[in-house]
Amino acid sequence: MPIALITGGSSGIGTAFADQLAVEGHDLVLVARGRDQLEKAAARHRARHGVAVEPLVADLAEPVGRAAVEARLADPAAPVDVLVNNAGVEIRDEFAEAALPALQREIDVNITAVLRLTHAALPGMIERGRGSVITVSSFSGFLPPRGSSYGATKAWAIAFTDTIAASLQGTGVRMTALTPGYVRTNLVAEIHPDAAFRQGFLIMDAGRAVARCLADNRRGKVVSAPGIVYRMVSGFIELPRRTLRLGARVAGRGRTQHTIAGKNAVAGEPRAAGH
Ligand SMILES: NC(=O)c1ccc[n+]([C@@H]2O[C@H](COP(=O)([O-])OP(=O)(O)OC[C@H]3O[C@@H](n4cnc5c(N)ncnc54)[C@H](OP(=O)(O)O)[C@@H]3O)[C@@H](O)[C@H]2O)c1
Repeated sequence: MPIALITGGSSGIGTAFADQLAVEGHDLVLVARGRDQLEKAAARHRARHGVAVEPLVADLAEPVGRAAVEARLADPAAPVDVLVNNAGVEIRDEFAEAALPALQREIDVNITAVLRLTHAALPGMIERGRGSVITVSSFSGFLPPRGSSYGATKAWAIAFTDTIAASLQGTGVRMTALTPGYVRTNLVAEIHPDAAFRQGFLIMDAGRAVARCLADNRRGKVVSAPGIVYRMVSGFIELPRRTLRLGARVAGRGRTQHTIAGKNAVAGEPRAAGH
């Protein structure tokens, strides 16, 4: 059975990824900090879908937690076919007033963990000629809300996915950034406790967002924007980037084809900057 590793796999959008990837026939590795919730989620998936589930307790804000997940992703004995970078932190205090350690944790989970886990997963995927890396960004990566640096971390996730996906052309490995607006999860219940908002037309179920993302990943789409309103707006915002990408391909100057470290590149040698 193929294996999918999902960070933040014990709740919300992560649960929807776990459900749908299990239905597609994947065994699961679920990562989160809370052991009890992880064990409960694992038992539910085993009972409902008959798949094998490994709960992996790790705090992605901490180097030791990230190292445990990196080691699991790089394990050739049980290769991971799908990595879902879903766990995320949102600091809602105004930037200038927010506590610096909290802002650093946001960077550590939303950026450092995504970069390091993707880096651990890709070499094996490239060698096997197949695999998917999905990173849960946010619509706020296009249009950051007033407040703090959360939107900037989600903008990084879109730019990172776009850049690395371009270098993976022809390898059989696909990368997609999911950019949902509001999704009915615990996170949104905390931000918007009023029930009327949670029933409004701008908020969607996690299952719908995830189904769209998995379909987009199969089609090779780099950005997956679920929901017609969000899709139209982000499609418009994305137009210059898409035009540039197409122009580069047409001109035959696509970004450098990915090479497995050490095969065609001198390890550690910086490449000349692009533009
Ligand atoms: N809900 C929305 O409207 C929305 C919209 C756009 C984007 N997003 C993004 O979607 C992703 C998932 O959000 P959600 O709404 O599904 O949140 P959620 O229901 O609160 O679930 C968050 C999951 O991440 C885990 N997690 C949190 N911090 C972690 C850490 N430091 N290390 C490891 N695991 C950690 C949590 O488990 P533990 O607490 O046990 O660790 C939980 O499993 C996030 O990246 C978020 O930014 C959400």
